[in-house]
Amino acid sequence: MASLDVNGLSHAFGSEAVLKDITFRIDQGAHMLLLGPSGSGKSTLINLITGILPCQSGTIHVAGEAMSGARGRQRDDLRRRRIGVVFQSLRLVSALTVRRNLHLAQRLATGTSVPEQIDALLDRLGIRHRADAPLRQLSQGQLQRAAIARALIGRPALLVADEPTSALDDANAADTIDLLLETAQAQGTSLLVATHDRRIMDRIGHRLILGEDARAAA
Ligand SMILES: Nc1ncnc2c1ncn2[C@@H]1O[C@H](COP(=O)(O)OP(=O)(O)O)[C@@H](O)[C@H]1O
Ligand SMILES: [Mg+2]
Repeated sequence: MASLDVNGLSHAFGSEAVLKDITFRIDQGAHMLLLGPSGSGKSTLINLITGILPCQSGTIHVAGEAMSGARGRQRDDLRRRRIGVVFQSLRLVSALTVRRNLHLAQRLATGTSVPEQIDALLDRLGIRHRADAPLRQLSQGQLQRAAIARALIGRPALLVADEPTSALDDANAADTIDLLLETAQAQGTSLLVATHDRRIMDRIGHRLILGEDARAAA
């Protein structure tokens, strides 16, 4: 079963058609890059897949479950259970420690929290020594790792990241994409990364191109 199946998806904001008849799938454990210039609809597509925006036309299935057609609460529930999201703004609770943020995320996704799994993931991401620090004391690179840990702790079928490296310097950008690929692979999680960051474009083979670039590539 595909982790993500998008069929004939179109979306408009008022009279502005942003996405037109998008069809693609991501098989279990596969990785895909979502490319396109600023304004081409990458975030809109991510917001539809994650159920933050309601779907207007076409279908979206996540691990076999319909995101399209679901009401707001059902979409939130499906997102929590099946999708890990790394947002551009990190959406972590800055007053809480790394560990506490992960504990809450794991509870939301799975109903329970397993401290050993949190430690193992922090280890893998190289920030276990910062587990008990409040987030506001972390460096930007450490924060990005914490955001990846938060997205993965619920063992999602699909991990989506919207411009995960755009605010990072070269070293942290390379690290972040390595960590996303490594940790997703270790968990068998599928990966969808939206970016216009040229530094990471050659790191993932499968591509979906939106906007003018798509017409140029066709
Ligand atoms: N909530 C919204 N309301 C109206 N227009 C929007 C909204 N979100 C995005 N847009 C418009 O949709 C287009 C695509 O935006 P977006 O999906 O953010 O592109 P990208 O992430 O590729 O930069 C832009 O023209 C943007 O202004
Ligand atoms: Mg965007």
